[in-house]
Amino acid sequence: MGDRHESGIRHSLWRVDLPIFMAPTTYAPVPLQSQRRDNPGEMGGRVASPTLVGRVEELRILKAARSRAANGEPAVVLLGGEAGVGKTRLVTELAARCGADGTRVLSGGCVPVSAGGLPFTPIMEVLRVLLAELGPGGVRELAGPSWPELAWLLPALGKPQTAGPPSQAAQARLFEVLLGLLGRLGEQAPLVLVLEDLHWADRSTRDLLAFLVRNLRREQVLLVASYRSDEPGQGRLGPYLAELDRGGPVQRLELQRFDRAETIAQLTAILGAVPSNDLVDAVFARSEGNPFFTEELLAAVRAGSGELPATVRDLLRGRVEALPEPARQVLAAVAVGGRPVPHRLLAAAAGLDERGLVEALRAAVAHQLLVSRPGEDGYEVRHALLREVIEADLLPGERARLHAGYAHALTGRPELAAGDSPAVAAAELAAHWDAAGEPARALPARVQAGLTPHAVGAGPRPWPASRAGPGRPAGPGRRGGRLGRRGPARGRAAAGRAQLGRPCHRAGPGRRAADPAGRPPRDNPR
Ligand SMILES: Nc1ncnc2c1ncn2[C@@H]1O[C@H](COP(=O)(O)OP(=O)(O)OP(=O)(O)O)[C@@H](O)[C@H]1O
Ligand SMILES: [Mg+2]
Repeated sequence: MGDRHESGIRHSLWRVDLPIFMAPTTYAPVPLQSQRRDNPGEMGGRVASPTLVGRVEELRILKAARSRAANGEPAVVLLGGEAGVGKTRLVTELAARCGADGTRVLSGGCVPVSAGGLPFTPIMEVLRVLLAELGPGGVRELAGPSWPELAWLLPALGKPQTAGPPSQAAQARLFEVLLGLLGRLGEQAPLVLVLEDLHWADRSTRDLLAFLVRNLRREQVLLVASYRSDEPGQGRLGPYLAELDRGGPVQRLELQRFDRAETIAQLTAILGAVPSNDLVDAVFARSEGNPFFTEELLAAVRAGSGELPATVRDLLRGRVEALPEPARQVLAAVAVGGRPVPHRLLAAAAGLDERGLVEALRAAVAHQLLVSRPGEDGYEVRHALLREVIEADLLPGERARLHAGYAHALTGRPELAAGDSPAVAAAELAAHWDAAGEPARALPARVQAGLTPHAVGAGPRPWPASRAGPGRPAGPGRRGGRLGRRGPARGRAAAGRAQLGRPCHRAGPGRRAADPAGRPPRDNPR
């Protein structure tokens, strides 16, 4: 997604229909401090935008697929994206728009229970909705004479063919019955079948989806299956999705995070007013355009605490805690590094032998906590808030030790800050000595950086937006972080970085998983 300045969505502000980014000059911007209960219908806590922001192209693709399906050309869309990026919101919007033109929408979701998940959970959900709509007789009629194959999934239909989970042969018959049922439903009205959260799908659901993808022929069915692209263990889903790609009329749609303009649109729609620049800066620097995080952070600001919401903190912390200890160490080292950390610098700073380092990196990458950008030799924590939580959980001594690791590595070998001008490398070195609690050793480096201010602006690699933005949280002592505050050491470093004046890069989910061996990234393996 490029940098758009208007989402295409129009928003009703004060009964005037405005393009959503047109700032009405007669109203004061919403300031950064707490604003309680100024959103109609708000019950407290997180509030979602009443209008869909952006996603114009994605909706167009989905609607085109639906039109093809309505003409007897079944379509399958695999909708990927990181947690909270808006997959459910998009399919909900599609469902609402389809519902208005007579398309039937049925949806079911996989659930994260036990290893392997419950068999057929999403399809059971779909059948239950159908049962409520059509009654047992209606569903039996749609399923045809083999309906008892379905009764194991839906006991309300009557006596099942098998008492327990179906054998392989029975499962094949079940799939045929379901295919027939979907086909007959599609004859009544075009059907959109949504299967959500495929990353949690059990084996049977996966098999069923693969069967449908291979066997849909002329059914008026659009099948949309969503999955998280940042779920731990994604490696196992990747080959499966690749198989689906090969099996039939499959299209991939990968949702990206919002850009700044879209985040402003989201905030505007939630607040019913144009947010101040301070608010936008504070939220966007930390949410990096993830709409779920944007909602959470805005709710925190509006509640007046400014604390990172416990829901978000615990969620992110839980993912870090699932890592083996060496991987957590490496993750912490990358978080403290503050921007994409080149492999050789990490190796020198982290104090792990190469083999241990690669193993730890592999684990962090497999858990979707570290990523790298195509064409860049660097590791980065997946999201600014994740980095914030990792840093906040470090003890002061640990943090200082990690910074000292970088400082020592860069002192002997400034070239490890690959790609940076000497002045930028010196600024980075000074920041690390400062954060390591050794300001005297930072001095010469700071002088070196300060002597060549122009060169500082000319460095080729961007710092992550969240490092340069005013939302960068305070230094030592913060836990959970506070919005819009910055500790002195961090503030200086951040100010130096802000002076770099480079564009904020998107930390979107389109980034590839890093290759722990430092090889150049390949195309998305999924
Ligand atoms: N395009 C959008 N416009 C407005 N709000 C959005 C948009 N996309 C997402 N949101 C909001 O962000 C929040 C998270 O979105 P959603 O639940 O759809 O994410 P998701 O990708 O389905 O996440 P998960 O993987 O956890 O299921 C929701 O409250 C949703 O309303
Ligand atoms: Mg969802």
